[in-house]
Amino acid sequence: MTTTKYGSDSLKIYFCYLCSLFQVGILYGSAVFQSFVLSGSCLVFKMNIRCARPSDLMNMQHCNLLCLPENYQMKYYFYHGLSWPQLSYVAEDEKGHIVGYVLAKMEEDGEDNRHGHITSLAVKRSHRRLGLAQKLMNQASLAMVECFQAKYVSLHVRKSNRAALNLYTNSLGFKILEIEPKYYADGEDAYSMMRDLSAFASDSKTDSQSENLEIKSESAIVSQC
Ligand SMILES: CC(C)(COP(=O)(O)OP(=O)(O)OC[C@H]1O[C@@H](n2cnc3c(N)ncnc32)[C@H](O)[C@@H]1OP(=O)(O)O)[C@@H](O)C(=O)NCCC(=O)NCCS
Repeated sequence: MTTTKYGSDSLKIYFCYLCSLFQVGILYGSAVFQSFVLSGSCLVFKMNIRCARPSDLMNMQHCNLLCLPENYQMKYYFYHGLSWPQLSYVAEDEKGHIVGYVLAKMEEDGEDNRHGHITSLAVKRSHRRLGLAQKLMNQASLAMVECFQAKYVSLHVRKSNRAALNLYTNSLGFKILEIEPKYYADGEDAYSMMRDLSAFASDSKTDSQSENLEIKSESAIVSQC
């Protein structure tokens, strides 16, 4: 397992947070709803974020099919996994089920313009708003810097995708570069976005990024192994 500046590419995340009865009922069904009631007002979710393996690729594709209209053939997942095995990450639950992923690659635009690209990102509905997408994106970005000296990371997002736009602009510091008209197959425009990764490159700044990761999940205990 590769060691990163955060300790390793495997982060054990213990999500412990107070939930309203309504949220728990909607998200986790009546069984958990009952255990929630029985165990008081605190639920503990043990999640794991780790580098994707070849055996994860089918489950990543399944998650993609559940969450997004942009779908890819299996060979495209293998292309990513075999070409840049360090860059794609999955979030798994306690039982090892994949609940989210980021599929990432490098763009070869010459030495001076080395940058990563996020091909796809998704988190299953049942596990949203836990900070998983943010952590997946930060892990992939850090790996782009550590393994390939990436200067920045780029992506496309639908103009109407409010959740993703909030994530990219407010939580991750992406900037909009331009609008690409009719980028998507159904004719919707895309924002082309980029995030400067120089903060990940310097030791001191990387430490502060690490702090940000922990502060963001202050309702959780984040342990690194
Ligand atoms: C977009 C997506 C990946 C976010 O995943 P997530 O794990 O729920 O995101 P996080 O918990 O890390 O959210 C981080 C921040 O993003 C923003 N955000 C996430 N979901 C949001 C929503 N539904 N509405 C508004 N803002 C949202 C918030 O600022 C959030 O911080 P907060 O919870 O402290 O307010 C998820 O909603 C998803 O899979 N959507 C369908 C697939 C998709 O759109 N992928 C992106 C394609 S470009």
